[in-house]
Amino acid sequence: MMRISLLGLLTVVTPALAHGRDPHQKTCHVPAIGGGEDDGPAILAAFKECSKNAKIVLDKYYVVDTLLLTKGLENVDVELSGTVQYTPDIAKWSPQSLYLTYQNATTFWFLSGNNIHLYGGGTLDANGQVWWDTFNNTHNAGTAGGSSRTFARPIPLTVGNATNVVVENIQQIGSPFWNNFVYQSTNVTYKNINIRTVSYSSSPTANSDGWDIYRSDHITIRDSIVINDDDCVSFKPNSTNIVVANMWCNGSHGISVGSLGQYAGETDIVANVFVKNITMLNAQNGARIKVFGGNPSPNSTVGGGTGYVKNITFEDFFVSNVDNPVLINQCYSTPAATCAQFPSNLSISDVHYINVTGTSSGAEGSVVVDLECSDTCEDITATGTKLTPKNGTAEYICKNIASTSELDFNCTAPS
Ligand SMILES: *[C@@H]1O[C@H](CO)[C@@H](O)[C@H](O)[C@H]1NC(C)=O
Ligand SMILES: *[C@@H]1O[C@H](CO)[C@@H](O)[C@H](O)[C@H]1NC(C)=O
Ligand SMILES: *[C@@H]1O[C@H](CO)[C@@H](O)[C@H](O)[C@H]1NC(C)=O
Ligand SMILES: *[C@@H]1O[C@H](CO)[C@@H](O)[C@H](O)[C@H]1NC(C)=O
Ligand SMILES: *[C@@H]1O[C@H](CO)[C@@H](O)[C@H](O)[C@H]1NC(C)=O
Ligand SMILES: *[C@@H]1O[C@H](CO)[C@@H](O)[C@H](O)[C@H]1NC(C)=O
Ligand SMILES: *[C@@H]1O[C@H](CO)[C@@H](O)[C@H](O)[C@H]1NC(C)=O
Ligand SMILES: *[C@@H]1O[C@H](CO)[C@@H](O)[C@H](O)[C@H]1NC(C)=O
Ligand SMILES: *[C@@H]1O[C@H](CO)[C@@H](O)[C@H](O)[C@H]1NC(C)=O
Ligand SMILES: *[C@@H]1O[C@H](CO)[C@@H](O)[C@H](O)[C@H]1NC(C)=O
Ligand SMILES: *[C@@H]1O[C@H](CO)[C@@H](O)[C@H](O)[C@H]1NC(C)=O
Ligand SMILES: *[C@@H]1O[C@H](CO)[C@@H](O)[C@H](O)[C@H]1NC(C)=O
Repeated sequence: MMRISLLGLLTVVTPALAHGRDPHQKTCHVPAIGGGEDDGPAILAAFKECSKNAKIVLDKYYVVDTLLLTKGLENVDVELSGTVQYTPDIAKWSPQSLYLTYQNATTFWFLSGNNIHLYGGGTLDANGQVWWDTFNNTHNAGTAGGSSRTFARPIPLTVGNATNVVVENIQQIGSPFWNNFVYQSTNVTYKNINIRTVSYSSSPTANSDGWDIYRSDHITIRDSIVINDDDCVSFKPNSTNIVVANMWCNGSHGISVGSLGQYAGETDIVANVFVKNITMLNAQNGARIKVFGGNPSPNSTVGGGTGYVKNITFEDFFVSNVDNPVLINQCYSTPAATCAQFPSNLSISDVHYINVTGTSSGAEGSVVVDLECSDTCEDITATGTKLTPKNGTAEYICKNIASTSELDFNCTAPS
């Protein structure tokens, strides 16, 4: 076997002699320096050397203090069986993480290209505690769950500008912000991802979404566990043809469409979403749709956007101790008076709830379903709904639902 040492940074095994899955596959093994030294340059060198028809092996404990901008990959296997731990150097990462144009989101790792397979049972550890404690004391946030430009909280893994990607068998712990961002990508599948974003101090783990999907098409997220304190999965503007299945979420804010319609002059679309077999425990919401109200200002950043939410199905959705098991809010983060005068310009239609069962937490009294539209929502159906409030008789609130005849519960107007 011929091994070539590249700048002393990584070992390349030449194609004919490699013992990988594909005997012709070139393989780059990334060494770890140890002693807290930055392994980022060696990882980047491997992604450069093995960027096409190749395999990269990350089987050590890596400390990463350098932005992982790994682009232009073509037919690449990334075996992460070790741990990638990002340094908690806020002063360094805040300017250095990659800025992603939506809600001031930034990332530690931008994985980009075509035909990428990331797998291996390894861990992404983003050292979140330091970020949560600092954030708790600075409150340096953006709007509607956004980050801030002056105190970035990077995302551990962004699959961005990518096509035909599979990410599987990975653990993610300690994310400072969203765990995963699917950004401007097509045909990406995640499976067997185990996410734990848990704080060991009194600081909350703000904005610790499991996934956010943005400007992406044909995305599947399945067979995964999420323990966090914000959306389990969130469909941001222009998420289409999405499947989310077999998820176990604890402590989250639900499976959420939105928020959408935040920016006047912008069109946001979420369509063809199929959510099936979800266990949602101890959560703020279960199946949620959140859309801003209207706004008279042509450059509003607090509502007034247009677009639509269409063809969304939530099926076999079990909730336990959830504040709002089923929720549509088309006046999200908008004063009621503004919504009354300027209903949302972003329509909601063709939304189906099938076999949503379980118990609410009692945080909303005996309300278990709350469908409140500021404009008219059309073609909303529910079958097999069996939701029990913590005490009292279940209440189902509806407002501006075009027809309630295909709901299997009796609606009352909001008080
Ligand atoms: C982006 O960050 C700036 C401050 O750095 C903040 O004012 C703004 O609200 C943030 N934008 C969003 C969408 O969160
Ligand atoms: C992603 O693609 C967009 C559009 O082609 C491009 O403007 C942007 O620079 C790309 N981002 C990165 C990090 O490569
Ligand atoms: C989606 O990506 C997977 C993995 O790369 C690939 O096997 C599959 O053929 C792709 N599907 C389409 C429709 O391109
Ligand atoms: C988080 O902030 C709260 C109040 O803003 C404070 O009481 C608490 O001590 C802070 N926690 C930590 C770990 O700094
Ligand atoms: C439903 O999802 C759970 C994980 O939450 C999984 O264990 C179970 O096998 C799934 N059921 C089906 C029918 O796929
Ligand atoms: C689920 O969340 C509850 C409430 O936060 C917590 O008490 C419990 O330990 C969690 N279970 C797991 C397995 O994380
Ligand atoms: C979403 O897609 C629509 C239609 O293609 C487009 O007009 C709009 O600008 C997109 N919005 C975003 C936020 O990318
Ligand atoms: C509705 O969405 C589902 C799930 O993505 C898709 O299979 C179906 O074709 C869509 N229906 C229409 C009419 O687009
Ligand atoms: C909207 O933008 C115009 C100029 O671009 C500015 O004069 C005006 O103050 C802005 N209005 C709001 C509500 O931000
Ligand atoms: C309803 O969903 C639960 C999972 O939450 C599943 O076990 C059950 O089989 C489903 N019932 C029907 C009639 O499909
Ligand atoms: C449920 O019980 C709690 C006390 O255990 C009480 O405060 C609350 O008003 C009750 N809610 C309803 C809807 O009866
Ligand atoms: C709805 O109310 C009507 C009239 O009170 C009643 O006959 C019907 O059984 C109720 N339906 C459900 C699902 O509770």
